[in-house]
Amino acid sequence: MSANADGDWVARSLRSVWHPCTQMQHHETVPLIAVSHGRGPWLYDHHGDRYLDAISSWWVNLFGHANQRINGALKEQLDMLEHAMLAGFTHEPVIRLSERLSALTQHQLGHAFYASDGASAVEIALKMSFHAWRNAGHTDKQEFVCLKGSYHGETIGALAVTDVALFKDAYGPLLRSSRIVMSPDARQAAEGETAQDVARRAAADVQKLFEEKASTIAAIIIEPLVQCATGMAMHDPLYLKLVRELCDQHGVHLVLDEIAVGCGRTGTFFACEQAGIWPDFLCLSKGISGGYLPLSIVLAREEIYQAFYSADVTRGFLHSHSYTGNPLACRAALATLDIFEEDHVLAANKVRADKLTKALAPLANHERITNARQRGMIWAFDAIDAGPGFSRRFFTEATRQELLLRPIGNTIYLMPPYILNDEEIDGLAARTLSVFETTIAGE
Ligand SMILES: Cc1ncc(COP(=O)(O)O)c(C=O)c1O
Repeated sequence: MSANADGDWVARSLRSVWHPCTQMQHHETVPLIAVSHGRGPWLYDHHGDRYLDAISSWWVNLFGHANQRINGALKEQLDMLEHAMLAGFTHEPVIRLSERLSALTQHQLGHAFYASDGASAVEIALKMSFHAWRNAGHTDKQEFVCLKGSYHGETIGALAVTDVALFKDAYGPLLRSSRIVMSPDARQAAEGETAQDVARRAAADVQKLFEEKASTIAAIIIEPLVQCATGMAMHDPLYLKLVRELCDQHGVHLVLDEIAVGCGRTGTFFACEQAGIWPDFLCLSKGISGGYLPLSIVLAREEIYQAFYSADVTRGFLHSHSYTGNPLACRAALATLDIFEEDHVLAANKVRADKLTKALAPLANHERITNARQRGMIWAFDAIDAGPGFSRRFFTEATRQELLLRPIGNTIYLMPPYILNDEEIDGLAARTLSVFETTIAGE
């Protein structure tokens, strides 16, 4: 398609599409890129310019764009069944996916409830927790606990357990209040303190709250190992282990939001495996469909499921979404799980991650960078004394250098798909450094 046509797509989009998480006026200066197609880690615009999708298109894409194996599975599924309602009916893709996810949790979380977006999964987990306690006669358990800097999505319930002022403040009057505890973010370590010491301090904050208020608390919700949207705040797995113990001692549900960190992102398939624990509810989305289709899932324990199992309809979980358990999305997820198994992805990612960490050393050691950190396939760096508009200026410069990177505030991060070859790894690292140097040179 010609350059004219591209200009046309951008203008038409700006006239008619209200873009997410965007102050639309910024597009007077920040270019909007009209994507024509994707191949592997690359997105192409209508001019034929390309961008390495180093943040996996908002953390969803695992095995590249237009992946032949996922495409093949979807084409086959399309000729079988595109959708059928999941109340009163069931189908092969949703059954197989639920069984495989249960097996991946060693059958600890054997009941899968389906929705479409991450925020819906969070809403479901919160409602289920409250309702399970209610069915058990604990009607006072109505409160939720979240972490400082937490992010769980944009719907009213999910926003209530989110602590990012930029997203939350405008809607304050609409939201239920929740209890906010200290983040275990390892960057808070004082002189001589380790990440585990910070984890212990943060767990002590939870303990204090539970000792006073557990009778009114239904659940605590945590993004395990990495609080992504607040700026890739990473913590020691010990925190999760300690909170699991506190939840058991005080009768509080543990909800782990693995929407961003699940599906191998932190090095294990589920982040919580690194702490050797399982939650009562585990929320999955983003990568589970390989980044193809909206799909979210809440995996729940047997005891939770049993709390709803009754002859009384009102004791059931009467929540639904029209596209719950969509067969195409489930089939994309099954193809994604096949790739994990067939390609030994978790082991291959270790090698890939080591290479990228090495290649990123010049950025990590840059005099204007602090807190270089990595977990699995997530890398983050905080820019020191970044000037105003750093994130937008960095993004614009990155697109000039064939990269899709969007810093969060002053935090530059990489969350690439799990398919980069050596050349792409070296190119990504070198260009990220170059983009950073150009961005700060322009201040
Ligand atoms: C940890 C976490 N929870 C929930 C969500 C919300 O997911 P969605 O945008 O699909 O509603 C996100 C999205 O970034 C997330 O990172």
